[in-house]
Amino acid sequence: MRCFETGALWLMTTLISTFADTFEEIQAECLGNRVQFTLPGSLSLLEVYAVNNTQTVLLTPFLAAQCGYTQKSDPWGNMMVSASLQSCFAEKQGDKEIKVAMKFKLYKLSTLSEKVHEVSKSCSYTMASREILCDTNFMEVSIRNAIPDVKAAPVKQWSIDMPNLKLWRIILFTPEERAFDKETIEQKGYSLYSSPTRLVMRSPYNMAETYARHIEEIDMMVFKSVVLFRERWMMTIVESAAVCPTSGASVEGDTIFWRLPLRITPLVSSEFEILEVHMGVNGRRLTPNEMASHSYNMRLTESHVVVGIPIGAPDGYFKSHTLKDQYHISYTIEPMLELLWREGVDKTKYTVLFPMTTPLTPWPPQIADKTEPDQKMFDVFLGYFLPDVELLSVTIGSELITVPELIFKGIVLQEHSFPNDTKAFSLQIPFSEPHVQIKKVHLDKTTYTLPVVFGFTVLPDHSSFSHSAELETSVTDTVLPKAEGSCHQDHFDMHVAFGSVPSSELKIKLGQTELNDEILQQFEHHLNKTHLTIVVPFLSPVVALESVQLTGIEGRIDVKMYNSMNNWKFNDVSLTCTFLVKLSECFPNGTVTVVLPKLESVQYLPGELSLRDPTCKPYYNEDHFAYFRYNVTSCGTTRKFVEDTMIYENEITSKTDPLPQTSELEPEPEYRFIVSCVYVANATESMIFHAVSHFKEPHADVGKGELSVSLKLSQDMVYKLFYREGDYPLLKFLKQPLYFEVGMDHSRDSKMAVGLENCWATLTKDKESKPRWDLIVDGCPKGPEQTKIRPVIADDRIDIPDHFKRFEVKMLDFTEKDRSSTNDAANTMRRVFIHCDVLICHTENTADGRCYKQCMSPLNPQISSSRVRRSSRLSEEDLRHVSLGPILLI
Ligand SMILES: *[C@@H]1O[C@H](CO)[C@@H](O)[C@H](O)[C@H]1NC(C)=O
Ligand SMILES: *[C@@H]1O[C@H](CO)[C@@H](O)[C@H](O)[C@H]1NC(C)=O
Ligand SMILES: *[C@@H]1O[C@H](CO)[C@@H](O)[C@H](O)[C@H]1NC(C)=O
Ligand SMILES: *[C@@H]1O[C@H](CO)[C@@H](O)[C@H](O)[C@H]1NC(C)=O
Ligand SMILES: *[C@@H]1O[C@H](CO)[C@@H](O)[C@H](O)[C@H]1NC(C)=O
Ligand SMILES: *[C@@H]1O[C@H](CO)[C@@H](O)[C@H](O)[C@H]1NC(C)=O
Repeated sequence: MRCFETGALWLMTTLISTFADTFEEIQAECLGNRVQFTLPGSLSLLEVYAVNNTQTVLLTPFLAAQCGYTQKSDPWGNMMVSASLQSCFAEKQGDKEIKVAMKFKLYKLSTLSEKVHEVSKSCSYTMASREILCDTNFMEVSIRNAIPDVKAAPVKQWSIDMPNLKLWRIILFTPEERAFDKETIEQKGYSLYSSPTRLVMRSPYNMAETYARHIEEIDMMVFKSVVLFRERWMMTIVESAAVCPTSGASVEGDTIFWRLPLRITPLVSSEFEILEVHMGVNGRRLTPNEMASHSYNMRLTESHVVVGIPIGAPDGYFKSHTLKDQYHISYTIEPMLELLWREGVDKTKYTVLFPMTTPLTPWPPQIADKTEPDQKMFDVFLGYFLPDVELLSVTIGSELITVPELIFKGIVLQEHSFPNDTKAFSLQIPFSEPHVQIKKVHLDKTTYTLPVVFGFTVLPDHSSFSHSAELETSVTDTVLPKAEGSCHQDHFDMHVAFGSVPSSELKIKLGQTELNDEILQQFEHHLNKTHLTIVVPFLSPVVALESVQLTGIEGRIDVKMYNSMNNWKFNDVSLTCTFLVKLSECFPNGTVTVVLPKLESVQYLPGELSLRDPTCKPYYNEDHFAYFRYNVTSCGTTRKFVEDTMIYENEITSKTDPLPQTSELEPEPEYRFIVSCVYVANATESMIFHAVSHFKEPHADVGKGELSVSLKLSQDMVYKLFYREGDYPLLKFLKQPLYFEVGMDHSRDSKMAVGLENCWATLTKDKESKPRWDLIVDGCPKGPEQTKIRPVIADDRIDIPDHFKRFEVKMLDFTEKDRSSTNDAANTMRRVFIHCDVLICHTENTADGRCYKQCMSPLNPQISSSRVRRSSRLSEEDLRHVSLGPILLI
């Protein structure tokens, strides 16, 4: 045994007084036959000394096991030092009072200071005849009044009866007997103490002179001795044994079972009676209530006492471990059993402290993805860990980032602690982090992926493990553009919603034509940042015509949309409409006009078409249509009579030159369109021709009211026959002049007159819409080549010429004026509405001077007659508005 010099002791005493402030932090408790000192986790324990009146001795593990001291700690740094009341330096104070004193050399990290701190505790304890203590590092047995020879006599102390009895020999069992003297066994690490009242023997586990026994299925260690006392011829033998378990714990499900034999054979003979059984934890006996509240249970079988401990009970603790780079945990608890039994008059108190740790269990970390894509960052939750785990680093992509560096990367790391003593980490990594891989998996779906490896360390041993994960999140980030449309009399209304694609990136193709600003100007349209509405006339080149039938023309518009930035295609939309438009017209004078659009499905060129007479080629043709104009007496037109009608018929076909190799039969024309004109004989009128087809209701605005005024389009320049409402939309060739008439239909008042105030053309039905082409302004033609006022002469239809006004318009002129653009994709077909403001005035009321007006023609400075003049301001009430259309101009 090592002792301190007096000088060193003095020095320590000085130190003690310096650090007296933390004295109350160390708790000392009497726990049965042990004293337990609890040191706070804020202090590190450097050295432990055992102290009695004369000596202060540093406790090494060897000395602690020999002398009855135990030291243990939990992962949070809490230290516990305990001493048996029979420990080497314990001091008996009277019969039952025992004092244990200790010195602790402590280190306080917060102040970087060392201190030595002495604590002593006196405990009152009544020893049983035999006390056996199985502590974690030693086995101890203590026997009172152990004189086996004087059983019959009244119990006497051997110190009184045999004062000269000297300890002579000690026999230890291996299990063979071997004899030693006291010095030898103390050198080996055993402890022997004899006093007038007790003999105490102590051995660490696994000593050479101890041996294993299998008792009631449990492995036990036996330390058995016989001590011989002698005085000359007299000899006294004291036999003692400590038997301590080394096995007996097992895990079943989430419960630890600990079994201890009741009959520990070297300790008991045949007759014995168990008086008490107590369970405790950490050296402290528990009451039945405490046991129940912690869900411990204890039961006695015939042969064993069995203790059940739920894994995770609060008296124990979990500890983290690393095994093959994987996170594992274990649970450790130190239960205690105290048995009291009686053999004859002697009682034995048997105490076992039995620390046990469950096998390592893998506890793989779980990742919970809490990413909200709107936040544009990964939000991951990683748990659960014991408090002894620290996150050291995060490897993102290939870059290892230590925890302190994370903040500079814009990564938010938080640690969360839970009441059940676990913790978790949450990380927020922005999508902008360079290692995030962004992949477009669908038009409207983006996937963000990020490989991460979390590096952890387990305290206090600093073993490390890692956890890899692939973070992945999908974001729906685009509202797809959407196109839809509807069919109208002679046009498509197309509507495109751009969705979340910027309008600058969205490219729209109508047919094969990509829309740009210039092309868009040629259509009636409405465009804002999010939507486009466009009116596409059915004969626009962007429309694919599928078939021409009596019932109408089938036209299809294909809308293709794509993102010009990355060429992603969005869903195509096609819309097919049937347009009920008269393609042929039969005039009273025998002229027939036909407009034939080029069909998408056939190969002919419009210029190759001809009537039955192959020399009758189109009057005019362009790439996507042919315009025929012929009379019923020419071009191979046939005539037949059906009752009192005459039917003229011709057909338009495409005839390609027959190839020499093919058979003599003329190849079937790819395309055939029959034009019929029905000629109705009428006694009073000349011939009237109709196209065979019948068409649905059109619309044309007619001024309403008592003095109703109408605007009509004449079929001829002599104003004999007019198109009826049902004839619209009308298809007109650009070069045809149009003859308009405005008139009061029902009035017979000869004092009334009509005057043309303003006439103009628009692309839509709305008279206010833009663009607008003026035809007549303030009663006078806008341009004399374009608009001509024509005289009205009384005839069988017209009684009062003042009730009518006529004008002729050459649309060619006004479209040419507009044709500033070289791209004529839309110009090739214009859909126009004609509007007029008509003045109704009194011919006699010359005072207001507004019924007649004279216009000067700059080119032909003649004064036209019967012009409505305009000198004073006209109120809206005087004006009637009339409209007509649509007229399709090709
Ligand atoms: C102090 O302990 C030592 C070792 O057990 C012992 O030899 C000595 O007698 C003890 N001193 C007192 C005063 O009890
Ligand atoms: C600890 O508590 C958290 C939060 O209440 C819970 O999600 C987790 O599962 C618990 N862990 C254990 C091991 O009980
Ligand atoms: C754009 O036009 C559409 C209809 O064409 C309309 O519903 C929308 O409100 C308009 N948006 C703006 C910003 O004017
Ligand atoms: C009909 O057309 C032919 C050939 O173009 C022409 O000779 C004839 O005079 C025309 N007849 C009438 C009535 O216009
Ligand atoms: C002939 O024309 C007149 C005037 O348009 C009409 O009243 C009459 O019913 C027509 N006769 C026939 C047989 O169509
Ligand atoms: C027949 O009438 C139409 C329509 O009025 C006219 O354009 C054409 O020039 C006329 N044809 C002849 C040969 O007069």
